[in-house]
Amino acid sequence: MCGITAYIGWKEAFPILVNGLERLEYRGYDSAGVSTFSDDELHINKAVGKVINLKHKVLPGSIGIAHTRWATHGSPTEANAHPHQNKEKSIALVHNGIIENYASLKKKMQEKGYQFYSQTDSEVLTKVVDYFYKKNGQSDFQKAVMDALHEVVGAYGIVILNKAENKLYAARKGSPLCLGIGDGEYFIASDPAAFLEHTRRVLYLEDDDVLVVSSTSYDLHNLCEGHDKCLDRNETHIEWDLSAMEKNGYDHFMLKEIYEQPESLRNCIAGRTNLNHAVEKLQRKLPEDFVKKLDRIVFAACGTSWHAALVAKTVIEKYCRIPVDVEYASEFRYKKPIIGPKDLFIVISQSGETADTLAALDEAKKNGAKTFAFVNVVGSSIAREVAAGTYIRAGPEIGVASTKAFTGQVLSILKFAFTLGYIKGALSREETEKKLDSLTTVPELVKECYEEEENIKKIAQEFKDAKSCFFLGRGINVPTALEGSLKMKEISYIHSEAFPAAEMKHGPIALLEDGFPVVTIIPKNDPIYEKILSNVQEVKARSAKVVALVQRNDHEVANFVDHVIRVPEVPDYLQAIVFSIPLQLLAYYTALARGCEIDQPRNLAKSVTVE
Ligand code: M6R
Repeated sequence: MCGITAYIGWKEAFPILVNGLERLEYRGYDSAGVSTFSDDELHINKAVGKVINLKHKVLPGSIGIAHTRWATHGSPTEANAHPHQNKEKSIALVHNGIIENYASLKKKMQEKGYQFYSQTDSEVLTKVVDYFYKKNGQSDFQKAVMDALHEVVGAYGIVILNKAENKLYAARKGSPLCLGIGDGEYFIASDPAAFLEHTRRVLYLEDDDVLVVSSTSYDLHNLCEGHDKCLDRNETHIEWDLSAMEKNGYDHFMLKEIYEQPESLRNCIAGRTNLNHAVEKLQRKLPEDFVKKLDRIVFAACGTSWHAALVAKTVIEKYCRIPVDVEYASEFRYKKPIIGPKDLFIVISQSGETADTLAALDEAKKNGAKTFAFVNVVGSSIAREVAAGTYIRAGPEIGVASTKAFTGQVLSILKFAFTLGYIKGALSREETEKKLDSLTTVPELVKECYEEEENIKKIAQEFKDAKSCFFLGRGINVPTALEGSLKMKEISYIHSEAFPAAEMKHGPIALLEDGFPVVTIIPKNDPIYEKILSNVQEVKARSAKVVALVQRNDHEVANFVDHVIRVPEVPDYLQAIVFSIPLQLLAYYTALARGCEIDQPRNLAKSVTVE
């Protein structure tokens, strides 16, 4: 949540900062702001709404900080936009995260005579830094920053500009931040995407790091180890291509990412489906004696990743015969969770930065559980915090609505589940090899799903005026229905709910009326196909408008529903992937027909780094 970028070097900072912010807009787009320094003055430009609104006022200077906001404390006004300043306008600060004790700090600062102009927690931090700087006679800004951070409870990624010095100060706890190392220039950002066209040399900040950057060098310190000790940290070289961050001719990142799935899924399993190799790799992460005794797995995740966890539950329980619990990461630590050293605790996260998921992971670790993660973003907080895990290799996902990350999560989980089932003795070698082999067919199967695009566009035209809709599935397709429903609501703003199809008659069916859109998933090879048909007949009998997702060889359903969307026939464990593709397209084209902001839906942000 919120994107930060900063620059120090020999070029004009403003265009670099604004360009960087545009790449970070997926993190929030309620308001934006930039501060630069030149001619003994801190210049400032803030605007409500998107980063583009900053462009009319170019600021001078070759050092600066910038921010794009996802509002937490205070509405999206110019006053609440970052950077925040002290009274003398000599210090400017940008912040991502939440200062949990901001109210008590604010009161303390007010008692010392400080005035506040915004409702944000971030302005409080600015004033606390200012207070400590004045307290040490304005002799040591680094000390002031560290003293202030010692007062803070909560999460932060911050960058501060002080007029008295040609330096940037940055610090991190709980909110991502990294340093880009260029040729006589440095960049700081929440995500290297902000500066990748300038440098691929990156140093990721860790919790409690305090970074001081001048135009010629940088020093890394640790908040707990004091002012003078400098740390050594290895740089990372970013390999991925910047074109992954561009729309490449597509109108929206979401559509591009929907169409990237054959490639992202190929990357996800490339070189990973040989059984001996898979077993060896998994055993390096989860020792054989632990797996042999393993009799419970707990998953925690949020949103789309939580839906992937529901798919994992179905698959692991069926093919490994291990009981699986799926928890909302946001609820986990507050419920006195039953979790311990014998359990495997698995988190799933595209960004690897979701605060609720990180907190659940922390809770499980405190209780001694063995931890594992499925993560997309390499080097993210979850990837670093977890004992073992696997990257899903989907590449950067920019659209707020998750698409290729979901299918990548499911595919990685399938590989994990089959390998685990084999080690546990629940699957024979032959069955496991066959299943692992079948995973390599997924990219081509996904390509076949795009054949329905024109059909889906037409259906979307009928969907566009709906006030509400339902998504139904059974078994492994309950999570698929939930995911289709989430996609629809987050980008088209049509109210949507999803249920196991047979649950309709226990209440939700009361909401059906003439023309109410109901999307149902009806795989012909499902052992309870006939029962699903009956559930759908009940819906149709209430005059609902039924869109049925069926397998290609199904010639029955088309006789009594309004629309069919066909996908290739696949075994149950691949259905979450192939049925998701048309659901993603349906959400996309419905949102498009309604004129919605597809990549940046209102009130949302790509990575939710606040509780
Ligand atoms: O980065 P994560 O996978 O941890 O994010 C979890 C959710 O915030 C995310 O899946 C969200 O629900 C998406 N907007 C769904 O499209």
